[in-house]
Amino acid sequence: IWQDVPLAPPDSIFKLTAAYKADTFPQKVNLGVGAYRDDDNKPWVLPVIKKATEILLNDPNLDHEYLPITGLPEFTSGAAKLILGADSPAIAEGRAVSVQTISGTGANHLGALFLSKFYHWDAPKQIYLSNPTWANHHAILRNVGIQPVDYPYYDPATIGLDFKGFIGTLQSAAPRSVFLLHACAHNPTGVDPTRDQWKEIAEVITAKNHYAFFDCAYQGFASGDLNNDAWAVRYFVEKGVPMLVCQSFAKNAGLYGERIGALHIVPPTKDAADRVRSQLSVLQRSEISNPPAHGARLVSLILNDSALFDDWNRDIKTMAERIITMRNELYRLLTEELKTPGSWVHIINQIGMFSFTGINPSQSQALIDTFHIYLTANGRISMAGLNTHNIRYFAESLDKVVRG
Ligand code: LMR
Repeated sequence: IWQDVPLAPPDSIFKLTAAYKADTFPQKVNLGVGAYRDDDNKPWVLPVIKKATEILLNDPNLDHEYLPITGLPEFTSGAAKLILGADSPAIAEGRAVSVQTISGTGANHLGALFLSKFYHWDAPKQIYLSNPTWANHHAILRNVGIQPVDYPYYDPATIGLDFKGFIGTLQSAAPRSVFLLHACAHNPTGVDPTRDQWKEIAEVITAKNHYAFFDCAYQGFASGDLNNDAWAVRYFVEKGVPMLVCQSFAKNAGLYGERIGALHIVPPTKDAADRVRSQLSVLQRSEISNPPAHGARLVSLILNDSALFDDWNRDIKTMAERIITMRNELYRLLTEELKTPGSWVHIINQIGMFSFTGINPSQSQALIDTFHIYLTANGRISMAGLNTHNIRYFAESLDKVVRG
């Protein structure tokens, strides 16, 4: 038995964490996985999460009963307001369907599974993904029988957005195609469309009757402002674009291991929303029965209490600002001190957790092999892995690799 099971390669992102942990070199640096670290390279438990945990610990009514199948209601309603806006027409009209999921990955899975079963596919089931995108998107789609296809996104010549290519594919794709869009802080490139570009994207999507599948894993991380980072999603709702949004609290609440997220589907009518909700509930039941409670309770406390919400905003700013400081410092070191060949302005133009350095796979490998600096082969670095203690070492190593 199992003779025919092929050996799978390790995960491209988590294999870096394992290699970094096993490395005994004192100056080793992990720029692989997108997980926030403080200036001492330590995981950061947000002060607001410590407060919320304390509240839960002291709650005499807390039990360990099952949550409803679609999740903790106070969490899902708060999460919907956070991403869609408290004054969203979709919420007011009762047509936002929100289901608690196993973080953003679970939201992507449930959203893709729902589309796989119920979307009106004209041709083969396929979803357009930005080239490049988070590697897991491909696997998540294939698991539910949907073929991933690329749309142009990143332009290596400018280390920026290939807007022409992107719009061109939106225009040439068959009507009613599904496009996965990163709501903010694009992973892996850190390159986002401007608001004017989003408006054009929405226009073509509407004209072609396409469906927008938003993945929003970094709300607050891009600009330090939760509302600002939800702009594209809210604009699409306002324009009546058919859509869903996958939401994660892993990064913006530092709740990586709690696996807390939500899927929001916005149908055009309340009646359609009720039917969609009923089917999501059936799918969820067969897969996880009911979502886990702890992370939902923590986030729900924060979303439904204005003092805790203010604390959370402050914590998000702390993380976003530290990352922006690292961008500025890396740019300064490369351009002013080391005079590293090439233009590095993309380091400060890109936003969110990641920077796409523009180096090639063999240069990335050289950083790992020679300098013990771990990053994905595509040249993506997690800015959160840089700090005041290791940034010079990283800049100098990058400089050497670029000079060959
Ligand atoms: C990443 O891209 O590094 C993160 O989103 C972590 C993950 O799950 O891959």
